[in-house]
Amino acid sequence: MRPLGVAGLCAMSFVAGVLLKGLYDQRSVANGDVTSAAESESLLAPPTDLPRAVDFANQPLWAYGFLEPPKPGEVASPQALPTRNLRTNEDPAEQTRPRQLPGSSASYSLVDIRDASNVADWYPEDHPPMPDIIRSGPAGAGPARRGCGFCHLPNGMGRPENAPVAALSRGYFVQQLRDFSAGVRRSADPRKPNTNTMIDLARAMTDEEMQQAADYSPRSSGSPGSR
Ligand code: HEC
Repeated sequence: MRPLGVAGLCAMSFVAGVLLKGLYDQRSVANGDVTSAAESESLLAPPTDLPRAVDFANQPLWAYGFLEPPKPGEVASPQALPTRNLRTNEDPAEQTRPRQLPGSSASYSLVDIRDASNVADWYPEDHPPMPDIIRSGPAGAGPARRGCGFCHLPNGMGRPENAPVAALSRGYFVQQLRDFSAGVRRSADPRKPNTNTMIDLARAMTDEEMQQAADYSPRSSGSPGSR
């Protein structure tokens, strides 16, 4: 009886998930094409039922990288702008020394690796050629420009602290960018700085850049086990 009960619960959760996803997709851009300004207005109408206060005492704070609830008014400091300047607290020779990775013919120094506006490409064979938006980010972000591939990696698999974006549907992908940009998707924890950077980048993106990024994403088929 008991195993059956658990299996039943799993099945019900799965069905509920599928239904919710269906509801979400109805709200998403129909086929992933960036829509006209008039259409996006209606898509972006912010929901009125967003939770305003989070009960941090009952949240898995570790999942956001914190151990204590935020103090009243505590917010994330903006992330430092991308730069190729040497860090003053580190040995310059170490920062400029070329480095290699197994199975890669590329060679990058720490300065190259940290340059968020020119994403290092260790394994070019595991993804399509990166368009400008993936390698360097939205032109409109100016000095805060960061390539999508910097945090999400050139193959879209993401770093542990950022989201994997490979193989997301184009509709969902564009909708997330619109939601970040419209202020209806944000981190529940006000101290998480990289989500704010993501929001700033989405705000700086043109419709064309959103489209290019969405077009690139689903074809990124690299997976951690594929090498
Ligand atoms: C500073 C690191 C960073 C950069 C650079 C970055 N992102 Fe993100 N991105 C994030 C983080 C963090 C999240 C998850 C945000 C959250 O839910 O709290 C995210 C989430 C997303 C999502 C939603 C994924 C999902 O499963 O819902 C999409 C789509 C996305 N990013 C696209 C982009 C694009 C396109 C670019 C380039 C213009 C970009 N990102 C650049 C950090 C980054």
